[in-house]
Amino acid sequence: MIVAARLDSRRDTQVWASFDESTPALVYWGPRLEDAEDLHALARAMQGPIVNGGLDLFERLSWLPEPGQGFSDHPGLSLRREGRRLLTAFRVRALERRENGLRWSLEDEEAGLALTLRLDADPESHVFSASVELLNTGDGRVQVDELASVCLPAPSDAQECLYLSGRWSAEFHAVREPLGRATWSLESRTGRPGHQAYPGHVLLTPGTSALEGPAWSAQLAWSGNHVARIQHTRWGPRQWQVGGLWLAGEIELAPGERFSTPVAHLLRSGHGLRKLAHGWHAFVRHAVTPRAQIGPRPVQFSTWEAMYFDHDPQRLRALASAAAELGVERFVLDDGWFVGRHHDRAGLGDWTPCPLRYPEGLQPLASHCQALGMQFGLWVEPEGVNPDSRLFEQHSQWCQHVTGRRPPTGRHQWVLDFGRVDVQDWATGWLDGLLRQLPIDFLKWDMNRDFAHEHGEDGRPTAAAHVRGVHQVIDRLRALHPHVEIETCASGGGRADLAMMARCERAWVSDCNDALERISMHGAALQFLPPERLGVHVGPAVSHTTGRLSSLKAQALVAWFGHLGIEADPLQWRPEERALMREVIAAYRTARERWSGLQTSLLDVADPALRVLWAVTPNASEGWLGVLATGRPQEGQPPRLRLPGLAASRRYTVTALRPWLPPRRGLKRGGAIDEGNRLALYGSTLAEAGLVLPSLWPGDACMLHLSSLPEVDLDPVQSSHGPQAL
Ligand code: GLA
Repeated sequence: MIVAARLDSRRDTQVWASFDESTPALVYWGPRLEDAEDLHALARAMQGPIVNGGLDLFERLSWLPEPGQGFSDHPGLSLRREGRRLLTAFRVRALERRENGLRWSLEDEEAGLALTLRLDADPESHVFSASVELLNTGDGRVQVDELASVCLPAPSDAQECLYLSGRWSAEFHAVREPLGRATWSLESRTGRPGHQAYPGHVLLTPGTSALEGPAWSAQLAWSGNHVARIQHTRWGPRQWQVGGLWLAGEIELAPGERFSTPVAHLLRSGHGLRKLAHGWHAFVRHAVTPRAQIGPRPVQFSTWEAMYFDHDPQRLRALASAAAELGVERFVLDDGWFVGRHHDRAGLGDWTPCPLRYPEGLQPLASHCQALGMQFGLWVEPEGVNPDSRLFEQHSQWCQHVTGRRPPTGRHQWVLDFGRVDVQDWATGWLDGLLRQLPIDFLKWDMNRDFAHEHGEDGRPTAAAHVRGVHQVIDRLRALHPHVEIETCASGGGRADLAMMARCERAWVSDCNDALERISMHGAALQFLPPERLGVHVGPAVSHTTGRLSSLKAQALVAWFGHLGIEADPLQWRPEERALMREVIAAYRTARERWSGLQTSLLDVADPALRVLWAVTPNASEGWLGVLATGRPQEGQPPRLRLPGLAASRRYTVTALRPWLPPRRGLKRGGAIDEGNRLALYGSTLAEAGLVLPSLWPGDACMLHLSSLPEVDLDPVQSSHGPQAL
């Protein structure tokens, strides 16, 4: 007997089928099926034969492949009761069809377990969201060794995988690799998703590009250890598993206890990576957000690279004034403000303002910022503690540790066990107090080390409990102080997953402000997260993390396509540099009013030295094309680039935007985008023929603005050269 159920978005359909009460399996995910489609026939059409040389049963890739049902590859679920392995055989007991959702209820009475498989569809963004709840209905404790959020068959034409990896100050590097016969897996065991494994990835075909070809993607909404896996089963199809990674002994259920997995979000595109990114952006914008609407982003200033730990109230006042004069709207006091914090080897955990540097507390600085018309923000790292701190003296047992062993420090600090209720209460207490005492509009919540010895006082791993504790503290603070915005930071972009993005307005992408690197990192992050949620700062011209020079213009170009900020000392800038930033900020503040739903992504360019960011307003009335040369262009003449997303039958003027004029172009002038040219072309022409990019020197940047002409003006454009054919 087959029980099959479909779930539709406006564009897509998923069909899950249970054969003879077995755990349901995905039998279809693709363009929306006919309403009258026979789902039983579809399920039968997807059924392979019994495999020669295999087990005498129909092998299927279910939502949670179980060893108890003969599954011998990496299980989706693996459990023990009181230490003895359970060979489960769940049976479907009920299926609840909801508007935009399915709930499968399963039981294994003999094993004393119940499962709920949850699937929801977002009708507009076409994201399907899957998670599992496990309930211990029996006697004795159940140990969870494996429990994925979802397993599905990998699409057979998905021959490559794209994911984001890297290291500190070089995170969010897009890696695209062929999938082979051996298992591919991407996992984090560092307690935070980390720089090396953003919890999202894309399966694609070798031909999939920014604009064309199919792509299937998953993102796990979880801020801790996770794993994604593509594995050939012994009978052929590949399983695609997504879920949290649970350490031995960390998930244990007492009788009557439940455990819910993080949600795995799934999205596909039939038209390349750009459409996929915009689908994720749409989803994050309306479903993964701490507030109903995240309005135009205020321009930020961070003290970090401007002064590090060298806090001097006089200089801070001067910096705040200089920032306000540039048009900055939010001043964020970074690390170094609290007692004992003169460097990163002491003070973490002692969250009172340093009496030497701030004898009257932070109020005078906050008031100064307010008087300048700026919001005031503060850096905190509630999960960290330096051994050299009063907090550690008083509560050494609060640290993650194994009795009798000294955990290694990371950035000279240990991790507080946020799985403990007393630690959660302590953190909520002092943060709430701070937010009550001071006019704080913004918190930068940092987390600066990987876990090691991630155990609680009871000797059990606390990695997952820690993450849930962090989420709870942030949720409590948000409920108490709904107006306060929060940024998620973990030594840069080490914790920018969708569970944090549901609680934080902003993610700090990287400590690397070098535009030549950052443009690729930002472009890669845009594959999964929308631009206005990604902080990008203009830092010192000589990068503090690469030692390389990247002009303010180049840095500002990248920041334009995200949440713009400054993280340098403007008092050190030359007058013309300050004038440039003033102009950039003024232009940004004007343009951002039209950016709700902005469609931003990195485009593919033929020349490997050129990076291009492209943003189009949702009504297609305007677009911004940022071009940056990260090296010497390969060819003498730059390539042409097709511009997607414009309205085919509207005509657009193309002009170079002022703060980026004139680019330090190659030795000879001319070309499609020259100061003298004023082009006006139809959207269809720009999509099919495109534009020849400007010729740039390494490190130089150019921004083009495309603006649709009013419909009434569709006659030939007044131009010195007339519309130009390329
Ligand atoms: C981390 C962050 C930086 C800065 C420092 C402060 O490295 O990523 O932006 O806040 O901590 O210590």
